[in-house]
Amino acid sequence: MPSPAAPDPAWGLSTVAIHTGHSVDPRSGALANPLHMSTTYAFATAEDAVHAFEVATPGDGQSTPDGEFVYARWGNPTQAALEAVVAALEGAEAAIATASGMAAISGALLMALKPGDHVVAPKSVYSATHTHLTYWLPRYGIEVTQVDATDTATVAAALRPTTRLLYLESPDNPTLRVTDLRACAAIGHAHGALVMVDNTFATSYNQRPLELGVDVVLHSMTKYLCGHGDALGGAIVGRADWVRECRRGVLRDFGGVISPFNAWLIRRGVETFPLRMARHNANTLTIATALEEHPAVAWVSYPGLPSHPQHALARRQMPGGYGAMLSFELKGGLAAGARMLSRIQLCTQAVSLGDTKTLVTHAPSTTHTTVPAEARHAAGITDGLVRMSVGLEDPADILADLDQALH
Ligand SMILES: Cc1ncc(COP(=O)(O)O)c(C=O)c1O
Repeated sequence: MPSPAAPDPAWGLSTVAIHTGHSVDPRSGALANPLHMSTTYAFATAEDAVHAFEVATPGDGQSTPDGEFVYARWGNPTQAALEAVVAALEGAEAAIATASGMAAISGALLMALKPGDHVVAPKSVYSATHTHLTYWLPRYGIEVTQVDATDTATVAAALRPTTRLLYLESPDNPTLRVTDLRACAAIGHAHGALVMVDNTFATSYNQRPLELGVDVVLHSMTKYLCGHGDALGGAIVGRADWVRECRRGVLRDFGGVISPFNAWLIRRGVETFPLRMARHNANTLTIATALEEHPAVAWVSYPGLPSHPQHALARRQMPGGYGAMLSFELKGGLAAGARMLSRIQLCTQAVSLGDTKTLVTHAPSTTHTTVPAEARHAAGITDGLVRMSVGLEDPADILADLDQALH
């Protein structure tokens, strides 16, 4: 098995997405990335096996000196092809692929923290992350302070001598507020904290947190990297030594590894990721602008709109575009939102995001139902908030469907 292709530093993002981690099968010449379902890998000699287990670490997913694999929970060639391209898209040294976005987030939190540590994190984050911050981490003796992360002075004031981690999500789910990643990375580092960002909403096409000073990037690959709504996956991306430690912990010992089939599906989806993101960005700016002008709509939150409170920051921080997530509320609030959701026909009422299809959901009663009402309100999640993941359909057709549902 030849090593997956290393990216050429001169390549553009589309070339990186297509060629990094790609290999041609040397025996058959098969051009599509191979799918390896094997759970275990044969050693030629007893010395090779000893070397794999005692001498070489499984940190690279390739335990033997000649780049062979050992056991699929530590990594396999299909997974390695995906990890190589995800690292390259973020401009990172390394990445590991996990079973889901939450396997990446929970694994990274456990790798970064120990009892007695303190974490600073936003009030508004994805709901399962919120549950980690408010329920699971405190169970292990880890204290968490949740702040309005859009206010960097508040972030700085929350850090303590015991703060080991500054956790961020920008734009956040579901309010679409934007955090100043460069400023927060500097604040975190000044206090000796690790700085982690969930880059799922923005994607590496639009925002490259490592270039802004962030240490670790997390993804739900279930969303835009896969792109077709047919495979769960997550990623931890960053410095080679940190990612190597995560492979040892999160994959080898915790077992949160991605299935080879899902890795294969997501690697295939990544080939069109830059192309899809350009269209996602363009569609969403069109829909957000039209919704903001619609007489039935009270407000729209989309970082690409000049009305967004952090639009100027988003322009600096998201050079590729503003992504394909927006939230809005109708003038009739919750009841009007529910009526609209029952009437949409082309758009689908469903959770998740990053699909080719437009997905719309009432966040407080679906994705964020596990966040108590008081915490939702403190995070800016209003009772009537509707979240939309704009798909790749023709924008005129999406708008026509929304318009008929709003009448
Ligand atoms: C911002 C964000 N991070 C993480 C996740 C979790 O991803 P997964 O469903 O792949 O575990 C989600 C899921 O919607 C999300 O929106």
